[in-house]
Amino acid sequence: MSLYYDEPISIVNGDGRYVWDAEGNQYLDFFGGILVTMSGYNIPEIIDAIKTQAEKMLHTSTLYLIESQIELAEKIAELSEIPNAKVFFTNSGSEANDAALMMASMHRGSNQILAMRGSYHGRSHSTIGVTGNRSWSPTQSSPFHTVYVHGSYPYRSPFSHLEEQRYIEAAVQDLRDLLSIAVSGPAACLIVEPIQGLSGFSTPPDGLFKAFKEVLDEEEILFISDEVQTGWGRTGEYFWGYQAHGITPDILTFAKGIGNGLAISGVVGKAELIDTISTNSISTFGGNPLATAGALANLDYALEHNLQSNAAKIGQQLMVGLTDLSRDLPAIGEVRGKGLMIGIEFVTPGTKNPDANISARVMEETKKRGLLVGKGGLYSNAIRIAPPLSLTKAEAMEGLQIMSNAIRHATSC
Ligand SMILES: Cc1ncc(COP(=O)(O)O)c(C=O)c1O
Repeated sequence: MSLYYDEPISIVNGDGRYVWDAEGNQYLDFFGGILVTMSGYNIPEIIDAIKTQAEKMLHTSTLYLIESQIELAEKIAELSEIPNAKVFFTNSGSEANDAALMMASMHRGSNQILAMRGSYHGRSHSTIGVTGNRSWSPTQSSPFHTVYVHGSYPYRSPFSHLEEQRYIEAAVQDLRDLLSIAVSGPAACLIVEPIQGLSGFSTPPDGLFKAFKEVLDEEEILFISDEVQTGWGRTGEYFWGYQAHGITPDILTFAKGIGNGLAISGVVGKAELIDTISTNSISTFGGNPLATAGALANLDYALEHNLQSNAAKIGQQLMVGLTDLSRDLPAIGEVRGKGLMIGIEFVTPGTKNPDANISARVMEETKKRGLLVGKGGLYSNAIRIAPPLSLTKAEAMEGLQIMSNAIRHATSC
């Protein structure tokens, strides 16, 4: 496992959008434990629900009815906008994607999967098999035959010179070509991250996946939206990342933010897809009483406080500030993303050559100044900003000032 920072820190305390390390240093948190702390730290409504549940019952297993699990499933099914949806709870994003891939593969009688170049869908054997990012692919052995499609990463795409509509058409043509040359018989599904997380929040043009889905529908190939990072309003404009594309997926997977720190994830899909698995299949911990009670309180908090519109508003302020900064600094190749999901990619000025030294320095310089951010990018040359969705304007301005100073310092070395 790799730790952040030359001198790694242990975070022991949190409140709102701030955390403290074991030495007592305070940081504004712009990474939320990898996009997990969605509502914020130490939110009384969420902590109280967890405490109340912990005093009553931690775990019973899925052999018994769990009221909070049913209530949460009903809410998520409705929010998903997938018609006649069912929900199956798991414990991590990898496990949710693993379940979704198994359902799609069984339903279609095919182990051929389409995935996006630059993707990351988890660390399990099956999800590694659909991950289009060499530095996160420890093995080529896979239960799937996977074909990787262009389109999710415009900045480094061979089609990057094309304007948006032409770009979409070129990516669609690539998809059609792959279906006729690289797939034999039926393909099971296409799995996408609406905005790619690990590749540094690379963002495809809106509508790309609608154009893809029209092609997939011709062969009844299923569409899986991995909303592990983009769900629950993080992108600001919509509740789910897929909605920017004017489609409804057949299957959606979620994790991270819904638990605000508790381990919970799941799959939502049309009932006939979820019901594909007809043998015995349990998840001992999936949707357990503690996780679902906490997740329900967290989801209610996010909806009642309209964190999605806060993400849109505050995210826009950050985006404007960072885009302004990029005009001064040629080492910033691209500022991208949506809502409170913003990536900054660093390059050698005047080129698109990735510069991972700058992102490494920005990590150190932001930490020194009291701000936690994340790293990413296919070449480790991007910084990721993904604070809790409750970030205030004053906190955003504080973080922006630190980012600006840290980036200016890191790019002048
Ligand atoms: C888009 C996406 N899918 C799946 C996963 C895997 O989730 P987990 O680490 O909870 O297994 C991640 C993790 O970062 C992710 O970003």
